[in-house]
This record gives sequence, C-alpha cells and structure tokens, in this order.
Amino acid sequence: MNRVDFIIAKKLILHPAKITLAVVQDENGNNNLITLEWFMRTSIKPPMFAISIGHTRYSYECLQKVRKFNLCFPSKKMKELAIFCGSKSGRDLDKFETNNVEWFKGRWAQLPILKNAVANFECEVVSQVRSGDHTIFVGEVKYSWIDSNEEVLLAEDLNS
Ligand SMILES: Cc1cc2nc3c(=O)[nH]c(=O)nc-3n(C[C@H](O)[C@H](O)[C@H](O)COP(=O)(O)O)c2cc1C
Repeated sequence: MNRVDFIIAKKLILHPAKITLAVVQDENGNNNLITLEWFMRTSIKPPMFAISIGHTRYSYECLQKVRKFNLCFPSKKMKELAIFCGSKSGRDLDKFETNNVEWFKGRWAQLPILKNAVANFECEVVSQVRSGDHTIFVGEVKYSWIDSNEEVLLAEDLNS
C-alpha cells in the first residue's frame, strides 16, 4: 500500500460507474439538463436520491429556486446527449431544443420525462447540504418510469 496524492488515488476507484441526467427548471419554467456522475440512493422508505451539483453550474441556480428534478438514467442511444449536457451550459443554450430531445410531461410536477431513457424518477428536493464546491440535493421520489427494452449507458461508454 502506497500513500499517493488524492488525484492519483481517485483514478483507481472511478470505473465502472453509471451516469445520470438531471432535468431541472428555472423560475420561468425553462427546462435544463445536466450530466452527473455524483449521485446515489439514500433512502428506501421513502425512496430518495442525492445529486451533487457544482456551484458554478446553471443547474445549481435552478435547483436553488425550483425545488424539483427528474433523474433520468440514459440508454446507450443517449451517449451524444450525455456528452453534450456534460459540456455545455443551459445559461448559453436550450439543451432540449438543440438536441431534439423527445419527452413528455411528468405526472408529479410536469418536468420532462425523457422518452429514450432506461428509467426516469420524478423527485422533490427535501434537503440539501453544502459539500465544498458542490451542494448535495436530496430528492424524494414521487413517480418512477422505466423502459425495460433499453440498455443503460455507463460512464466508460462516453470514451468509446
Ligand atoms: C461524465 C460527466 C459527469 C459529470 N458529473 C457531474 C456531477 O456529478 N456534478 C456536477 O456538478 N457536474 C458534473 N459534470 C459537469 C456538468 O455536467 C457540466 O458542467 C454541465 O455543462 C453543467 O451544465 P449547466 O451549466 O447547464 O448546469 C459532469 C460532466 C460529465 C461529462
């Protein structure tokens, strides 16, 4: 066992990892999408997910004002969308329009449910905690949606 710099150690524990897309909304009702690798389940009853959002992200501003998100687990066919939403900001463009994202309104808060995803979870933000340069938003799942014909996109797929 060797003591190394954190930057070296974190590379070893990175993959395999899933990624997810969060749909968020600004106060004018405009939808945005952000690619995330830092997320986890945090409760069985009620079901909850936590997502960690950097303070420089437009999605962070959205979540501070509009306390809801949809967590969408992308399918293999959503690779290009996941790359796009992980590199462009909703401050500069509409990621839904630019990518012709197919969606329908959710049941709880009418945030978009992505049609090509493996699963979508409609969440209400119930708490948050600051974590350095990110904030962890904890969302309680209100409704769940799946398409069992689709195969889930992994973080490593983004590099292939
Ligand atoms: C594979 C991948 C994983 C990412 N994971 C996170 C994450 O967990 N949290 C985060 O704040 N940003 C993450 N990002 C960066 C954001 O997706 C990126 O900064 C995005 O452009 C922010 O969009 P926004 O300004 O519209 O919110 C990730 C990017 C990629 C490509």
